[in-house]
This record gives sequence, structure tokens and C-alpha cells, in this order.
Amino acid sequence: MKALLLSQYRHLEVADLAVPEPARDEVLIRVAACGICGSDVHGYDGSSGRRIPPIVMGHEAAGTIAAVGKDVKKFSEGDRVTFDSTIYCGSCANCLRGDVNLCDHRQVVGVSCADYRRAGAFAEFVAVPARILYRLPEILPFEEAAMLEAVSVALHAVSLVPVHPKDKALVVGAGMIGLLILQALHAAGCLQVYISDVDPTRLNLAQELGAAATLTAGPDLISQVMAVTGGAGMDLVIEAVGIDATVKAAIDSVRKGGDVVLVGNVSPEVTLPLQKVVTRQIRLQGSCASAGEYLRAMELMSSESIRVKPLITAIAPLEEGPRWFERLYAREPNLMKVVLTPGKIS
Ligand SMILES: NC(=O)c1ccc[n+]([C@@H]2O[C@H](COP(=O)([O-])OP(=O)(O)OC[C@H]3O[C@@H](n4cnc5c(N)ncnc54)[C@H](O)[C@@H]3O)[C@@H](O)[C@H]2O)c1
Ligand SMILES: [Zn+2]
Ligand SMILES: [Zn+2]
Repeated sequence: MKALLLSQYRHLEVADLAVPEPARDEVLIRVAACGICGSDVHGYDGSSGRRIPPIVMGHEAAGTIAAVGKDVKKFSEGDRVTFDSTIYCGSCANCLRGDVNLCDHRQVVGVSCADYRRAGAFAEFVAVPARILYRLPEILPFEEAAMLEAVSVALHAVSLVPVHPKDKALVVGAGMIGLLILQALHAAGCLQVYISDVDPTRLNLAQELGAAATLTAGPDLISQVMAVTGGAGMDLVIEAVGIDATVKAAIDSVRKGGDVVLVGNVSPEVTLPLQKVVTRQIRLQGSCASAGEYLRAMELMSSESIRVKPLITAIAPLEEGPRWFERLYAREPNLMKVVLTPGKIS
């Protein structure tokens, strides 16, 4: 089969690899679409240590079942499916509690690190355990279904805090995740959602997607926040950049007793304005991946309550993968989601 192989750091090649053999509890999927995730781009040069070559990356995928393992009962050949990027064990204390995103034996499809190696979906075929599969509604095209993982991340972040219809919320960062969180807040009934970014093109997109107003990130952000909240601050802030300045801005923007959800994680460490958090009694809530939000994500995408099409920059054949990775790695402006179509039957 054709696969996009990271044979060494910063070097992707279209290679001819053996079709994976599904284990008893696995299915073999003919991959129709697989999105390039920010974490793939970070792994590409070795900086994250999570894509040790040789590895086929790719975990935001959708396709059709081509074969099923002996023990798989609930799915059969021909089913249109997607899968959770997290392979959870289903039996550790966290899994039993329903926090499958926090599984003690968590593996991620298309990741290779010191502990494990899992071939991903930038290939004509990928094998994954049946327990992480979801059947796709007919109405969802594969290319959009490749966005389900990111939509689930946004829904999960919103699910972790109380959201009231009258709340004013701020999303810090109008990137892929921020723009999905904006829509997830709308879907949760919170309609006054503001969003900030440094990039005006991202803010234009946010405006199209229904932001109450867009705020320019920078030294002036807090005065803009205070202007639209009558000096009180936001009820809820969701941070989706993950650097020192934006975490601080998130904490500065929230009202006394409000919630700040931390989704962005570019920097491993940031400075915490401790006294502000303590004396204003602000709740800080981390959010990791998703835990069962796929079904809701499919519903919201099918009804177009969450729109992903405006976030897809390009849909390209697998052969164009190396070039798209370089462009994303170079942080070319105005690129958002790039979806590769490895096993597309034309
Ligand atoms: N917690 C999770 O489960 C999870 C899942 C996916 C991604 N993430 C993290 O979420 C973050 C966003 O991911 P993404 O895919 O949307 O990335 P992205 O690159 O698409 O978006 C980042 C956005 O931040 C903006 N930005 C940069 N500096 C800024 C500043 N000083 N103020 C305001 N905005 C600024 C950029 O212009 C861009 O629009 C990353 O840190 C990523 O690692 C977390
Ligand atoms: Zn991802
Ligand atoms: Zn587990």
C-alpha cells in the first residue's frame, strides 16, 4: 500500500509498505481522508519526541472498513467509520470512571515514542481496535469527518464548565481549536461569545462564524474586555493558544469567581498570576483531548450547528503530503486544516 512515511525527521516520502494485518479485536480501514494535526507538524522535526522515525503519522481519519478481525462483532466490511485518536484500555481506573482520555495505558494512533509505536492513517490502510470506532452518518463526507477529533476536543473543553445562556464568554485564540470552541459554546446555548487573536484573517473567520465581536490580542485586550462586559470581566474564558501571554490574558479577562479552561499547551510551563487567581477565586480547568464527545460532534456537524468546511484549507492527495507538511511547518499564513486523501477510490 501507499503510505506517507516519516523516514527521518523532516523527511516524508511516499513509500510502499505492507498492508497491516488487523488483530482479532481490530478492523482494517481503507482511509478516505486524514487531517494533518498540529501535533503531527510539531512531531515532524523531532521537537515533541512523539514521532520517532520511521513512522506513518495521522490520527484524524475516516474511511471504510475493508476487513474485520475474528472477534469483531459490531462492525462489518463496507461500514463508513471514524475513530477516536486515543486508544484507551477500557479497564484502568480512569477508563472505568469514563475518563478514557486519561487512560493510564493511553496510546495515540500515528504516534511513536519511547513507550510504543502505532502506525497511523496517512496510508491507504490503517488497523485500529474496534472499540475506538464510530459509525459515520451518511450525510457526513469523509473529508469533514476527519475534523471530528478537533470538534470533540472543543466540545470536551466546553463540557467541563457550567455554561449559562446569559454568560459572556471569551475564546483566546481563533485558530482551528478556538474557532471550534466558539461554535461549541454557541451549541451549548452561550451566544455572547467574544474571541481574540493577533491575526486579523482569523478574526474575520470568527466573525463569519458568529462571534459577538472580535477583540485584538495584545496590551489593549483587557480594556476591550472590560468595555464589552461593563467592567465586570467575562463569565467564562477558554484559552486556546497555550503561551505565557495568552494564559495571563485569559486570567485577566475573567470575572471574579469565573472559570478559565486551559486547552492550549504550546509552552510546557507558564507564569501563573497566583494572587489574582486566589483573591478573585478563579477556577482553572485543564482540558485534554475528548472523552466520548464523538457522537455529539457528529450530530452537531450533521446539522451544521458546527461548521468545519470554512476551516479546511485544502484537500489533497497523499503524494502532496510532503509539500503540505513543509508549508505548515514553515507557518505559512492563512493555512488551517489540510486533509489528505490516501485511499480515495475515484
Ligand atoms: N488540550 C487539548 O486536548 C488540545 C487538543 C488540540 C490542540 N491543543 C492545543 O490548542 C492550541 C491551539 O491549537 P490550534 O490547532 O487551534 O492551533 P492554531 O495554530 O490553529 O491556532 C493558534 C492561534 O493562536 C493565535 N495566537 C498566537 N499568538 C497569539 C497571541 N499572543 N494572542 C492571541 N492569539 C494568538 C494564532 O494567530 C492562531 O490563530 C495549541 O496549543 C494546541 O497544542 C490542545
Ligand atoms: Zn490531532
Ligand atoms: Zn485505561
